[in-house]
Amino acid sequence: MKKILITGGAGFIGYHLAKHLLTNTKNQLVLVDNLQRGKMDADFKELLKNKRVQFIQADLTKPEFYSTLDTDFNQVYHLAAVNHTKLFYEIPQEVLRINTLSLIYILEWIRGLKKKPKLCFTSSNEAYAGALASFNQLPIPTPENVPLVISDTYNARWSYAATKLVGELFVIFYAKAYNFPAVIVRPHNFYGPRAGYGGHVIPDFCERIAAKVNPFPIYGADDTRTFCYISDVVLAMRMLMDSPKTDGQPIETVHIGASDEITMEKLADKMFSAAGWKPKKIISRPSPAGSVKRRLADIVKIKKLVGWQPETSLEKGLKTTFEWYKENPKKYS
Ligand SMILES: NC(=O)c1ccc[n+]([C@@H]2O[C@H](COP(=O)([O-])OP(=O)(O)OC[C@H]3O[C@@H](n4cnc5c(N)ncnc54)[C@H](O)[C@@H]3O)[C@@H](O)[C@H]2O)c1
Repeated sequence: MKKILITGGAGFIGYHLAKHLLTNTKNQLVLVDNLQRGKMDADFKELLKNKRVQFIQADLTKPEFYSTLDTDFNQVYHLAAVNHTKLFYEIPQEVLRINTLSLIYILEWIRGLKKKPKLCFTSSNEAYAGALASFNQLPIPTPENVPLVISDTYNARWSYAATKLVGELFVIFYAKAYNFPAVIVRPHNFYGPRAGYGGHVIPDFCERIAAKVNPFPIYGADDTRTFCYISDVVLAMRMLMDSPKTDGQPIETVHIGASDEITMEKLADKMFSAAGWKPKKIISRPSPAGSVKRRLADIVKIKKLVGWQPETSLEKGLKTTFEWYKENPKKYS
């Protein structure tokens, strides 16, 4: 039997990761979330019917919580964070407090355990995005070992990236000092059902297509991105955590993402096909402020480490995602 803790377990990745881990009948899960973003919706209630799942509603920034947690976990996926671009601008001080405190308390809790679990920390590609703004260059595809940069400490946008940058250092040096296995993953544009509303391009397209918005604006039509479907993502995370190759020191930092680039315009086209509806008129608008022309992860390292690569076609992933958003219009926002 493997006992696994997922913080942020009611969120987008946490929910799908839990479902994936439950396919192994030997896994037992504890999910912690304060439901600040993740919701007690129909999907999550269904998941909680499984007897091998325990849900704890708690705030991970409260130190007293940790003494109530079990002490016999084999693995911990620390996903909880404030992860919504709008909030980076509105409450940067809270983004800094919540993301950093919850990570420090998790690390301190692991430090105090006799049997130490293996930790997975979700960083972000935002941790290196500032390098482009500051030095106007980044290798593309971008490997893991590029400098992490906060290009402007007075710009609230970087509050989130700062927590991921310092978070990576906390995980690297706690794992080294207190001798526990850990892995850092940097997500690159994950998508799928139940990914929240607004902010990210695919949920935004889904909502606007479901509402048949016409004319249909596309922001940064020539900008390219890659999109990695959530079932591929959780498989990658699980393979990394289960691999003995990530048990040693120094710990590994690994990019997870897809490698087939697509422009926003072509993405919209694929979404229209998936939805079976196309607007009569498309309006091209400038990219959102601070957005880069290309972002592409180098995924050679994860391929070498565990043999993972994304399998789900964009067509299939977009169709499933659109269907979910059509069925679940506003409730989750
Ligand atoms: N989804 C992506 O493409 C992406 C990209 C880059 C980084 N990440 C990182 O991956 C992790 C998971 O992302 P996600 O997309 O599932 O985000 P999410 O917002 O859907 O999930 C995070 C969860 O953490 C919970 N949470 C926040 N503060 C908490 C607190 N104080 N106590 C307890 N729970 C708390 C929220 O309620 C939410 O359910 C985050 O750390 C995020 O920064 C995700």
